[in-house]
Amino acid sequence: MQVELLSDKYKAHILTNKNVDEIYDLLSKNILYYEYCPPFVTRQTIQEDMRILPPGKVIEDKYYIGFCQDGKLIAVMDLNDGYPEKLIVYIGFFMTDISVQGRGIGTEIIDYLCRYLSGLGYESVRLAWVKGNPQSEHFWLKNGFTPLMETTSNVAEEVILAERIL
Ligand SMILES: CC(C)(COP(=O)(O)OP(=O)(O)OC[C@H]1O[C@@H](n2cnc3c(N)ncnc32)[C@H](O)[C@@H]1OP(=O)(O)O)[C@@H](O)C(=O)NCCC(=O)NCCS
Repeated sequence: MQVELLSDKYKAHILTNKNVDEIYDLLSKNILYYEYCPPFVTRQTIQEDMRILPPGKVIEDKYYIGFCQDGKLIAVMDLNDGYPEKLIVYIGFFMTDISVQGRGIGTEIIDYLCRYLSGLGYESVRLAWVKGNPQSEHFWLKNGFTPLMETTSNVAEEVILAERIL
């Protein structure tokens, strides 16, 4: 997987500790998300999220990605290659800047990502949303993700695990 090929329209790149302030600026404006998924974001939780891994995975499988438009960070995605199986990609987190929401940018990023991964031979993309968060639920359903089961995770007691077949 080549991160710079994950989007044709936005500049996709790996985010590092140097980007923490711009990431904080983007995340901290999405108040609704943290109402369903406390605690509220801090610079420290961002640095922890940059390193957290799904069970059995190594840091080389993890991509904490920023998408930029005209030099401004407009979306953040945590992507895990080969979880829970080799040909499945797991999105741990996805958020767009509040100033660009509702314009189809989130959908565009997810659609392009899915086409790119399909071309590489991946079979599906999985993720989970916090049960009851209308914004996340509507977005992922609209983007072709089908609920697989209700479960628990490290982010919330009740989450819906969902999958989009590529
Ligand atoms: C979900 C999110 C990524 C969508 O990004 P976006 O750039 O606005 O995406 P799009 O413009 O392609 O789609 C917007 C869709 O979001 C959903 N949505 C946005 N706000 C909503 C709300 N308050 N209530 C219900 N649905 C909402 C709708 O399905 C909407 O589709 P519509 O335009 O057909 O009504 C963005 O709202 C976000 O970052 N939210 C906070 C983080 C989050 O919930 N991430 C997903 C879980 S990890």
